[in-house]
Amino acid sequence: MALWGGRFSGQSSSMFRTVNDSLPFDKTLAVEDIQGSIAWASAIAKAGVLTERELAQLHGELHALQEQAERGELDFASSDAEDIHSFVEAHLITKLGDIGRKLHTGRSRNDQVATDLRLWCRNQAQALITDMEALQCALVRLAHRYTDAIIPGYTHLQRAQPVRFSHWCLAYVEMLKRDVSRVQDAMTRLNQMPLGCGALAGTVYPIDRDLLAEDLGFTSPCMNSLDAVSDRDFVLELLFAASTGMMHLSRLAEDVIFYNTGEAGFVQLGDAVTSGSSLMPQKKNPDAMELIRGKCGRVFGALQGLLVTMKGLPLAYNKDMQEDKEGVFDALSQWHICLCIAAEVLDTLVLNESRARQAAQQGYANATELADYLVAKGIPFRTAHDLTGQAVLVALEKQCALEALSLAELQQIAPQIQQDVYDVLDLDFLVNKRSLPGGTGAKPVHAALQTEALRLGVELNQA
Ligand code: ARG
Repeated sequence: MALWGGRFSGQSSSMFRTVNDSLPFDKTLAVEDIQGSIAWASAIAKAGVLTERELAQLHGELHALQEQAERGELDFASSDAEDIHSFVEAHLITKLGDIGRKLHTGRSRNDQVATDLRLWCRNQAQALITDMEALQCALVRLAHRYTDAIIPGYTHLQRAQPVRFSHWCLAYVEMLKRDVSRVQDAMTRLNQMPLGCGALAGTVYPIDRDLLAEDLGFTSPCMNSLDAVSDRDFVLELLFAASTGMMHLSRLAEDVIFYNTGEAGFVQLGDAVTSGSSLMPQKKNPDAMELIRGKCGRVFGALQGLLVTMKGLPLAYNKDMQEDKEGVFDALSQWHICLCIAAEVLDTLVLNESRARQAAQQGYANATELADYLVAKGIPFRTAHDLTGQAVLVALEKQCALEALSLAELQQIAPQIQQDVYDVLDLDFLVNKRSLPGGTGAKPVHAALQTEALRLGVELNQA
């Protein structure tokens, strides 16, 4: 029976049940709903609504149900309940009769669902932070495996300047650090408790909301009942964090996909995380990385979807808000999967160091060095840039690298050039010259790697 049957004489149509019932998806909140009810039972007992004995009986049933929920053993399929809240209440009434009928005193599904969803989001956020840290560890291990390997760095997807492969790894660690802090920041606002706000106006029972909040691990109760039951900012903030996090993962995926092309050939991925073609026997495709890229669509869509759902909603609760769940359930689960598979892919990744190095040596990635060299000889940078461009043209015509031009050829372009130019054009030399903090030189990258390994507890010797 529905929780609101008394006022109705007619039955719900089956299509209405299809559109209105949320149990098929809000069963995801079972553990949190029961957790909230355990705390609520204590709070109303303290307010004199339940006797000690009644509380003990309710707690007994709720804890038993909680264990079943945690084991995934609740039988939702044969339930006629409208939503997870009715499901739990119906169970208590079946087991305890009138005692079960007392639990909802002073509470509404509006403050209940807002509380459940906050508890669920908080659990997910904590798990996602762990996932993000695990991926950072994988990046640090990879950076350590190839600390001094050189790859071409790109702008406009054109070879620009050579960089350490480890510097590339650590760039993604920086993004993940921001992703973690975004979730942590969202958690500070998420961690307030709607319970005790009733349907919209507050509750008449003398509930100790501070104690209740503490009981459920919230920092404090929400301070306006109208806002508390109609606020879904905490979901939006997590969806934005998920979208930004997925966007970062998609860039990682795209880099790996590109490095893995036959044309680049810088990296190979393990058999465990790639697939073949049903037709072309030679193929080994980076599907995991492509799926990370692809799954961005549904995660960004969940953010957009909920923004549109919330737009223009009058205070306070409206049933539109039931549409807050499926998007965030899916988005956070996809984010979790993508973080885990990205770490697995990186653990299998093998860098073809000589091929990457060779590519870094081609494409005139050391042209900026020649310009800087000319600056050191007293030539203004703009002129040096132009002269270096001329040198590149000559080398292009000869189809050779800058350092393959003879001293005489170079001196024709700029007579200031001496034999020492060849040291400057050397790949390792020019990479290591970027020695300020944040640069790709040995000094800053080794230091950054140490710092991150220490922070994450990655043992570099065993990595
Ligand atoms: N299933 C509902 C939701 O997810 C629970 C709240 C129902 N409230 C109501 N007034 N009908 O939003």
